Amino acid sequence: MWTEEQIKGYLRENLKESRYIHVIGVMETAEKLATIYGEDKVKSRYAALIHDLAKHESGETLISICKNHGYTLNSVEINSPHLLHGLVGAIIAKEKMGIEDDDILNAAIFHTTGKENMTLLEKIIYIADYIEPSRDFPGVEELREITFKNLDKGLLKAFDNTIKFIIDKGLLIHQRTIEARNYIVNNK
Ligand SMILES: [Fe+2]
Ligand SMILES: [Fe+2]
Repeated sequence: MWTEEQIKGYLRENLKESRYIHVIGVMETAEKLATIYGEDKVKSRYAALIHDLAKHESGETLISICKNHGYTLNSVEINSPHLLHGLVGAIIAKEKMGIEDDDILNAAIFHTTGKENMTLLEKIIYIADYIEPSRDFPGVEELREITFKNLDKGLLKAFDNTIKFIIDKGLLIHQRTIEARNYIVNNK
């Protein structure tokens, strides 16, 4: 398995500088959340480091890599292939970097959509991606405060914001995002 330093080296070579800074921000935020909510810090750092490995790939490439690995894609994923960069990142992490831990891989896979009944690590990576220090959108500071007090409240607000944003853009909402949001509302 690659070390964290090896993965950082790969990221520096393969991502734009602003994306690299984002990934390091996600890593630091995930580690803070892991401390507060009792997740493994090493797993949190690894999941953050791999979550955007495939961020720079074109939609066409993302679709073909998923198909070549036997995944059946739905109409939302074909229409918004960017959603597949988490899955392709996990494929690269497993095949190229020898990362086998399913909890780490799933945290990368589901950071683009969320899912029903997320694990603690999946929640941490989803929201760390949303609120890391280089993110700047109206309400981000409030969302950070909420998340550091109550993880599920922060997540719900993130899903609500995302769903509203997708509707305003006229895009398709992934089924898993609706399920992620409904699950939290049902289990409050
Ligand atoms: Fe991403
Ligand atoms: Fe990201």
